[in-house]
Amino acid sequence: MPNATETLQADDGGIARAAAIWRAGGLVAFPTETVYGLGADARDGRAVAAIFEAKGRPRFNPLIVHVADAAQARALVEWPDAAEIVASAFWPGPLTLVLPLRAGAGISPLVTAGLDTLAVRVPAHPVARALLAAFGGPVAAPSANPSGRISPTQAGHVLAGLSGRIAAVVDGGACPVGVESTILGLKGAPVLLRPGGVPVEALEAALGRPVALHEGGGAVSAPGQLASHYAPGARVRLEATERRPGEAMLGFGAVAGDLNLSETGDLVEAAATLFHHLHALDEGGAEAIAVAPVPERGLGRAINDRLRRAAADR
Ligand code: TXA
Ligand code: MG
Repeated sequence: MPNATETLQADDGGIARAAAIWRAGGLVAFPTETVYGLGADARDGRAVAAIFEAKGRPRFNPLIVHVADAAQARALVEWPDAAEIVASAFWPGPLTLVLPLRAGAGISPLVTAGLDTLAVRVPAHPVARALLAAFGGPVAAPSANPSGRISPTQAGHVLAGLSGRIAAVVDGGACPVGVESTILGLKGAPVLLRPGGVPVEALEAALGRPVALHEGGGAVSAPGQLASHYAPGARVRLEATERRPGEAMLGFGAVAGDLNLSETGDLVEAAATLFHHLHALDEGGAEAIAVAPVPERGLGRAINDRLRRAAADR
């Protein structure tokens, strides 16, 4: 691994440099609309292995492959009607589809952790799109944080966790959505594998049918397998309506705090500020972070999913 991590600007020069590092088998973190991803060429087993090493990530957790458009996705996975419907409605955007991997797709088996399915997404962030266009191939990218820690929504968060362990980060500012993509399994009937940036209600409306909620506990799945995930250094206490001694407080709506996810109770704003505020409160050195209740609807599902993992015993 390189010793110094380059910070690249999101201009033509920075994008060309990042694509060249990917071609040479290196690791580059980059902004997406959800969180920063830690990218490598998904066809290059050594490069993919280096992602796991840099993150300290358990190998059984498969990675999402990022591509420039739906045509590239269709070359990698089987493409049922349901995939066409949701891809037309939500790509580019914060939706990942898990579909049967095509034979000969050329994706490193480390990406799928040996599964017969592949997670694919077309990100909407203009910098991610420029990078994928410049590179021209599939980019495997988990969130660009050390395994189990809070996801990065700014280049500075990436550097705080991974500096010296990756070749470069492309600085594209703060991520607008702020929570990871929704993961929809479409191997059979639609199943929600992880709530995220596209609310499940919107998927159900597009598909015209209900989406089953993943029950957990299986051998595979979305990051929920690891109960303690997205964890700050501080303990996290949920459903708090007031602060206890020694706690920092993360408010929501009328429940005030040191920081507030959204004073107006807007769940889109709350998603965008969630990891940012958790990083900030954690850096303040609090022993515990109390978090105000967030309603379980729309993006609230994704927010509460991340908060429950941050609060899980470790
Ligand atoms: O918004 C996002 O999705 C961000 C950005 C960078 O695109 N990426 C992200 O990746 O959140 P990651 O690795 O932190 O989470 C992806 C999750 C994995 O934890 C894994 O459980 C699930 O996707 N996954 C990947 N491939 C899968 C598959 N074939 N079947 C089921 N789940 C899969
Ligand atoms: Mg992650």
